[in-house]
Amino acid sequence: MRKKGNLDIRIENSGDYLIATEGTFTNALNFIKTKEYINKEELFGNNNNLELDLGCGLGAFSVIKAINNPNINYIGVEKFSNIIIAAIDKARKEKVSNLKFLNCRVECIEKYIEDNSVDVIYLNFSNPLPNKTDEKHRLTSKRYLEIYKKILKDSGRIEQKTDDLDFFEFSLESFKNCGYRLEDICYDVANANIEGNIVTEHESKYMLEGKKIYRVVAYKN
Ligand SMILES: C[S@@+](CC[C@H](N)C(=O)[O-])C[C@H]1O[C@@H](n2cnc3c(N)ncnc32)[C@H](O)[C@@H]1O
Repeated sequence: MRKKGNLDIRIENSGDYLIATEGTFTNALNFIKTKEYINKEELFGNNNNLELDLGCGLGAFSVIKAINNPNINYIGVEKFSNIIIAAIDKARKEKVSNLKFLNCRVECIEKYIEDNSVDVIYLNFSNPLPNKTDEKHRLTSKRYLEIYKKILKDSGRIEQKTDDLDFFEFSLESFKNCGYRLEDICYDVANANIEGNIVTEHESKYMLEGKKIYRVVAYKN
């Protein structure tokens, strides 16, 4: 994506929606050592449930979710500032008060998100990274699933959608190997009548191309 004009200034002026920005990507393990946990009362003015949209991209899913569910708090997480700025603009335009953003890598969310505090994690069209050498960077690889396990409440779950069958099957295996309980495995979301399904930016593009969309819900327990 092309770098947007005045990006740094726009990010600096996004304190109304942006919780924090990671800055230069360095060693994630060092970065997360010092915690800066969010406080829901301070951030949202309430203690409602918390849901995360990891790799939120341009933010359509997060914004629609937040509008449709005013009694749930949402945080969209995206590593690229030139992408998250579009999500922030959307949220501001819609004046949503139950959605905030973190401009950081998913591997750093433990710096901001406390253990046992998240109800639902959405993984919508995460990059499939088909090369074997990139396996450990897939957002459903063991390293990430262990992070999600820590921050999810015991009743928490992950909802994943993807258009990539190989990545989907890799994810199913990975969830199982990490002890998640799988439900609602679906190989054709468009024809499955899933209640409340929100079509993301990537989903609408893939559906127009006639691709099948795959979905699974993975419970922590
Ligand atoms: C294919 S897009 C999907 C965007 C959106 N969820 C959708 O469904 O339209 C994947 C997004 O995840 C972001 N991403 C990939 N790896 C990430 C990571 N480790 N941490 C945070 N964001 C990441 C990418 O920058 C990209 O914006």
